[in-house]
Amino acid sequence: MNFKITLLPGDGIGPEVVAEAVRVLESIASKYKHSFTFQERLMGGCSIDAYGSSLTDETLADCKSADAVLLGAVGGPKWDDPAAKDRPERGLLALRKGLGVFANLRPVKVHPALMEWSPLKPEKLQGVDILVVRELTGGLYFGFPKGRDVKDGRERAVDTLEYYDYEIKRIMKLAFDLAKGRRKKVTSVDKANVLESSRLWRQIATQVGKENPGIELDHMLVDTASMKLITAPVSMDVVVTENMFGDILTDEASVLAGSMGMLPSASLGESTVGLYEPIHGSAPDIAGKGIANPIGTILSSAMLLRHSLKLEVEAEAIETAVDETITAGARTADIGGKLTTRQMADEIIKKL
Ligand code: IPM
Ligand code: MG
Repeated sequence: MNFKITLLPGDGIGPEVVAEAVRVLESIASKYKHSFTFQERLMGGCSIDAYGSSLTDETLADCKSADAVLLGAVGGPKWDDPAAKDRPERGLLALRKGLGVFANLRPVKVHPALMEWSPLKPEKLQGVDILVVRELTGGLYFGFPKGRDVKDGRERAVDTLEYYDYEIKRIMKLAFDLAKGRRKKVTSVDKANVLESSRLWRQIATQVGKENPGIELDHMLVDTASMKLITAPVSMDVVVTENMFGDILTDEASVLAGSMGMLPSASLGESTVGLYEPIHGSAPDIAGKGIANPIGTILSSAMLLRHSLKLEVEAEAIETAVDETITAGARTADIGGKLTTRQMADEIIKKL
């Protein structure tokens, strides 16, 4: 089969980690007799520099017409001027919205060999296997009104946390479906003691829960959830939450895995075109040094094979190779080693 994959390496370490994931995919293609056509496009700060826009219409169209999109990272100090008209992050948000990828899946597993590397005690980490399902195209990131003005002689800034029932229902249904293939437990995270949008969130979670009697449903306030994630992470299976809560909780959850550099994500919507990206950022401090951990992006490419191309065997082959590579002691700097980005990918490719 021939598949078209649009690459958006982006800024900072993005191009370095995407290049290694592409080598892994090429190795999969030759082993399993697939053909992948890669088309590389600019998005983020690099696109602002080249075209004056963080995401051009042409690039969005090239993403929509592909089978899947693999993204590195966007942003950096160069584009951080608060008065700037465009920002790298705006391109990413427009891409998520443009592709309609409302569900961001962020699996958090802890490799036994990396438990020592997490600040948590190893006994707390034993058996941790969490899937965070983050709502990705609604909430505070996108609600209107949004902006700045002057009211009664005072400078004011507004963001709006808005959710429609259908937006909550579709992500909730997906979370329950995913729980069926796992430990059959959904933790719905909200702030229903304060926020109206959370009260609607909880109402719909309860409804969808009734339609899925085989799945245990827990409601948890986001402040409690942020604590439980550290004190009892093993008690969590599928965690479903709104956009901003999910953004914050997944950075926190990455600490369980030892490093942000380890964690992949898949963003899915109504169409089959998925967006795949590591959860880490552009890491300007180490960009260009060739020392970033490519595993988050390589595991994202495994999710791409699974969810967009329906190549489950090939996806598992990558995941197993990564597991074995870590077991064998291969380490980049973020997890206490000296391997370069390229060398880590070489080790993984050898195991494929
Ligand atoms: C993430 C990132 C993005 C987000 C930024 C870069 C806009 O933090 O993917 O978690 O907030 O969604
Ligand atoms: Mg984030």
